[in-house]
Amino acid sequence: MRSVAMLKNGLSQSFSIQPTWTVESVKQVRYHVIAVNDLFDPSETALLRACPEAPLAAGDRRLVVIDSNVATLHGDRIAAWFTANGVDATILVVHADETVKDWESVTRVVDKMNEFGIDRRREPVIAIGGGVLLDVVGFATSLYRRGTPYIRIPTTLVGLVDAGVGVKTGVNYERGKNRIGTYAPAIATFADRTFLRTLDDRHLANGLAEILKLALVKSAELFTLLQKFGPELIADHFQGTTPQTDQAARQVVTEAIHLMLEELQPNLWETTLERCVDYGHTFSPVLEITALPGLLHGEAVCIDMALTSVLGFRRGDVSGAELDQILSVMTQLRLPIWDEVLTRPGILDAALADTVRHRDGQQRLPLPLGIGRHRFVNDVTPAELAAGLDHLAAAAAQRIGDKFADAG
Ligand SMILES: NC(=O)c1ccc[n+]([C@@H]2O[C@H](COP(=O)([O-])OP(=O)(O)OC[C@H]3O[C@@H](n4cnc5c(N)ncnc54)[C@H](O)[C@@H]3O)[C@@H](O)[C@H]2O)c1
Repeated sequence: MRSVAMLKNGLSQSFSIQPTWTVESVKQVRYHVIAVNDLFDPSETALLRACPEAPLAAGDRRLVVIDSNVATLHGDRIAAWFTANGVDATILVVHADETVKDWESVTRVVDKMNEFGIDRRREPVIAIGGGVLLDVVGFATSLYRRGTPYIRIPTTLVGLVDAGVGVKTGVNYERGKNRIGTYAPAIATFADRTFLRTLDDRHLANGLAEILKLALVKSAELFTLLQKFGPELIADHFQGTTPQTDQAARQVVTEAIHLMLEELQPNLWETTLERCVDYGHTFSPVLEITALPGLLHGEAVCIDMALTSVLGFRRGDVSGAELDQILSVMTQLRLPIWDEVLTRPGILDAALADTVRHRDGQQRLPLPLGIGRHRFVNDVTPAELAAGLDHLAAAAAQRIGDKFADAG
């Protein structure tokens, strides 16, 4: 068949028996992650001026969606800030944790946007909360009128270094973690450590798991910082009450955001499925959803990292001393390296099979190379997983035994 392609007003058209038009367009993405100290301090104006795409001024109105726990702990201060700045804030308080990361929560936000009659260009929804709230609001705004701008204000450590800085939104569906969602960047994220003051230790550790992930695959320096300051950062809630912890908290959060964005920017739409930020996320989605509400996201990620560090050791990529350091830092950060959910027959094979479907037919499994580097493998077998699991069980049991021995 004769076919001649030509460009007509920028559109390519080929002449054949069936004329065919090929449309190509690139969507430019630009968003800001802005570190702020105490965003809702009465004298702080970052939210008014720091985001050129969405300037906020007295007389404007905004829809503000707040996680219910954050509303209880910080709601008065937040409302007072909007009042003091003459912004008419309609506040929607939403219960947001993993058990309600679902369609119903999305619908509540969409209903409120509809009732508010949001201007889809000039009135970004302001989302304030943890990773769940940010994912739910991001998803709802990306659906409403096929895309309405939003601003993220994370209030958990996971939100600050992970859920708040990328472009993914979504909710769980049936037994599938984040099974439905979109790629929808917020126009800006304000990273403010002061919210962590009220976050409990378990959720601080949960966020440290995502930071540890980046350290293990990308930065031995960050690993050393966690090793040195991790327990103090939890005790201090990242508030920097001494000059030393202030510097450590600043450094750990800044470095984690930087390392994450460095990985995300060239691969925002996950064109490449070999992503080192998926370290710890091969087995954890199924572990987390199966154990729900027993394991937090970061806890499931940490168990996955403990297992894959063992796999790395058994392949000769991680030394015995390095494995020991990795498992010790996990324990120091109060993260689990084992959970009973691992003993469910076939759970690891099922989790790997699910991930292979998600990664276009291949394992693309990031494994650590020492501390601070990684490689991808595609040849993990059920036998290797079973041996790795036995190894991890023994290492975890020994650590628990050591803890009791120390206490005695
Ligand atoms: N979109 C992404 O790229 C991405 C990345 C990582 C994680 N996530 C998602 O993030 C979720 C986990 O986020 P999370 O760990 O923030 O959990 P979360 O949103 O459930 O928050 C944890 C708990 O802390 C409460 N809370 C929030 N801020 C608080 C504060 N300042 N003080 C006291 N309590 C507070 C919440 O109400 C909740 O009960 C998971 O669903 C995960 O899938 C998304």
